[in-house]
Amino acid sequence: MPAITVNGVRHELTAFPDTPLLYFLRNDLALTGPQFGCGLAQCGACAVLIDGKEERACITPVGTLDGKDVTTLEGLPNRWANQKHIPADERHELLHPVQQAWITHQTPQCGFCQNGMLIKATELLESNPSPTPAEIKSAFTTSGLSPMLCRCGTYKAIFEAVQHAATLMAQRS
Ligand code: FES
Ligand code: FES
Repeated sequence: MPAITVNGVRHELTAFPDTPLLYFLRNDLALTGPQFGCGLAQCGACAVLIDGKEERACITPVGTLDGKDVTTLEGLPNRWANQKHIPADERHELLHPVQQAWITHQTPQCGFCQNGMLIKATELLESNPSPTPAEIKSAFTTSGLSPMLCRCGTYKAIFEAVQHAATLMAQRS
C-alpha cells in the first residue's frame, strides 16, 4: 500500500491516485492550514513542503507521493523542534521562528494567503539562512510559474518578517 508521511505521521494512501493532496490533507486528515485559492498552482495558498521543497498541494496528485515527507503549516513547530533537537519539555506551545516573526510583525491582514507565505519563508530560510532583500523579493514573486499572491498587499510585512525569522533561526543554531 502506498504511504506518505505527513507532519511525522505515516498514512496509507487509500484515496484515488489522482486525488489532489490538498483534498487529502483537508478532508481526510483535517489539516486546514493549506487553503484552496486558485486550484491552478497560481497563488500559493495551498502550499506545503514536500521533502523540504515548497509545492502546490492543489495540483499534486497523491498517487505521485509514495514515500514522500509532507509538512503542512500545522507541522512547522515540530519540524523546527526536530531539526534543532529541542527537548520535549520545551516543545509545549513552541512556534517555528517564522511563525514567531509573523506574529511580531503582525503580517497577515485577511490571512487567506498566509499559509503559503509561511511555507515559502520556511523553504527559503532552510536553504538560505541569510537571504538578501533581493532574494526574499524573488522568493515571493508575483509573476512567473509559481507566484505567491497576496491580494491584501502584505509583502512589505512579509519581507520584514522573513528577515526577523532569519535572525531568530540563527540564534538557535
Ligand atoms: S490553490 Fe494551489 S496555488 Fe492556488
Ligand atoms: S493577507 Fe489577505 S490575501 Fe494575503
